[in-house]
Order: sequence, then C-alpha cells, then structure tokens
Amino acid sequence: MAGRGPEPLHEINSPRYDPLDLMPQLPANGLNTLSLFSGGGGLDLGFDRAGFTHEGSWELLPFAGDTLRAARPEWNVHSGLEDGDVRNKDWRPFRGNVALIHGGPPCQPFSSAGKQRGAADPRDMWPEFVRAVLEVKPEAFLAENVAALASNTFKDYVQQTILEPLGRHYTITPVILQAHEHGVPQMRRRVFFFGFRNKKVAGRWDAPRPRFRKPGSKANGLPETIGVRNALGLSDLGFDDISPTIRSGLSGPRHTTSILSSVSAQRRFAALEVWPNGVAANRDAARAFVAKNGHFRLSVPDVALLQGFPEDWPFQGAVYMQIGQIGNSVAPPVGYSVAASIAEAFSR
Ligand SMILES: C[S@@+](CC[C@H](N)C(=O)[O-])C[C@H]1O[C@@H](n2cnc3c(N)ncnc32)[C@H](O)[C@@H]1O
Repeated sequence: MAGRGPEPLHEINSPRYDPLDLMPQLPANGLNTLSLFSGGGGLDLGFDRAGFTHEGSWELLPFAGDTLRAARPEWNVHSGLEDGDVRNKDWRPFRGNVALIHGGPPCQPFSSAGKQRGAADPRDMWPEFVRAVLEVKPEAFLAENVAALASNTFKDYVQQTILEPLGRHYTITPVILQAHEHGVPQMRRRVFFFGFRNKKVAGRWDAPRPRFRKPGSKANGLPETIGVRNALGLSDLGFDDISPTIRSGLSGPRHTTSILSSVSAQRRFAALEVWPNGVAANRDAARAFVAKNGHFRLSVPDVALLQGFPEDWPFQGAVYMQIGQIGNSVAPPVGYSVAASIAEAFSR
C-alpha cells in the first residue's frame, strides 16, 4: 500500500453506470414512512427517490445510523443500542399519522447460508415488525427478506408469525424480485411482503414488473442489464456478466472485507477477472494493492455500485462495516421499483 508492493496493473476506473438513472426522482406523493431495521439505507433511498416522505429510521448499529445522517442530514434517525433498538419503542403515538412502514428484519435466521433456526434464533425480529404495524396501523407496509423465507422450510413460520396477525387487517402479497431485472448488475433474489389495509387500494396495486433482462439472454423488448466490467468502467475482455450475490454483511468471519457468498461466486468473479476479497476503502488504495492473480481489486464505491447505490453514498465506519451495510441492504433500485408500485396504487 505504501508503494513497496508490485507496480499497479490497472488504471483508476471510471464507472459507466449511475444507479440514480434507475431511480429518477418522483415528485412528493404525500405518503410518509417509518423505516425499521434501516441499515445503511437501501430501502430508505428507494422510497425517498420514489417520492415518499421520510418520517423516521430505527437501526441498532451506530455506524449505519451515521451513514443515514451523513446521506440525509434532515432525516430523523434513531440509532444505537438504546435509541435505535426497535424493541424499546412504543409505536402507538404514530397511529393515524403514518402512511407506510417498511423494513427488512435481519435475514440470518432464515438465510440458506446460516443454520435456518427461524423463530428459535434470538435475531428473529419479525415479531417486532408485526408489533409496529399493529400498533401504528399504517395504510400499507412493505417488508423484505431473503428468498428462503418464502420456501417450504418456513411456510408455517410465515403463516403464524406474519400472515395470521397481519392478515386480519391487511391484504398481503409476497413477491420474489431479482435485482438484475431492475437494472442492478447482480444476481440477488429477495422476497417482499406487500400489505394494504384498504381492499380497493390492494386491488389497484400491480407487483413491480421486470425492467431489464440479463446480459446475453433472449431479446424480450427489455434493455439488457449492464455487466460488471462495463458498469465499473473496466477494459473489454470480450465477455461480461452480472455479479454473483454479494454476501450479506456483518454475519460471517469477523471483520471480513470479502463480498464472496459461495464457491460458484468465486468462479464467476474469476471469469470476470475481478478480485472479490480484501475490498479496499477507495479506488486509489485498490489500485495500489495489487491482487495476487492480477485481477481487478474492488473498492467500497465499486461494491456500492454493484449493489445499486450511488458510488458516493457516504457509508460510515471501517471498511468491513461499510461492506457489511452494502451486503445487508435492499438494492436501492429494487426498493425504488417496490416503492413506486405502492405509490401508483394510491394515486389511481
Ligand atoms: C437486513 S438489514 C436491513 C437493511 C436495510 N433494509 C437496507 O435496505 O439497507 C437488517 C438490519 O436490522 C438491524 N437490527 C437488528 N436488530 C435490530 C433491532 N433490535 N433494532 C433495530 N435494528 C435492528 C441490523 O443491525 C441490520 O442493519
């Protein structure tokens, strides 16, 4: 890093993709939101760009709260062990004053990369999300999680913990969305639970439709999602593709700065000639710290782009904390598609 290693092999890259183009700012729609489990703000950003008014965010990790405050100083952000913990919050004062609650409760209890202990896992926060919705009774809610939650393994859990208590007041539809179908150069399947209190609004809602198709897939009238190399502004190898799923952060080996989620992900990155370990804080450091195999070393702003954040989203904390916030997030353009579909149902 101090110039004693091998000479840099790559120029500083200039990205050719701006995720904000996937999220044109929509006019204010008059609907306000509470955000639970806000992390570094993937869903918050998607709802913001889709015209919703941010009423408040709650997040346990202080550095993630710092990210939100740095990104949007005017937001009302509660973070840290006391103020940010949703378990400490009485939501009833918000009743009648909030249009929508959104949140992505921690996915580790359900992730196929973990032990899948569901309700037996102390990190299971779904009951807290449900409590907030029942106390506030917003017009709508939106909750996100790993696609495994929609699998047979958790059928009873979903029925008892989510659908039964909330289904008495809301029309609920789970939808699985794939990030690259919304323009993000990454394979990332997640389930989204849409809930509407008013049946007419529920009837007017349409699930978000794919906006893009995978590179190299059959033409279907949709534009192709940009590939990793093109997105990051790397040289043309005559081959490009989307990124494998970026690992969910802050849950694996301590302080990891790798974004690898599987062995097959390693092979895909190798084919792209991208080095997914030891992500650097910035592009200068990534260039100076040559990867063993000479492949392109990623930096935090590059990983942010692959997740659909603008490259200057001000993630706070050490590099592993920044990577963790990115890997934990809803890809903002997916959050935007989700939010825009809800806004549309209320506007008709
Ligand atoms: C999957 S991440 C959510 C990411 C976010 N939806 C986004 O799009 O960026 C889950 C978040 O819940 C937070 N969390 C876990 N337990 C919490 C609690 N009791 N109160 C508040 N936040 C909590 C974690 O710190 C983590 O940042």
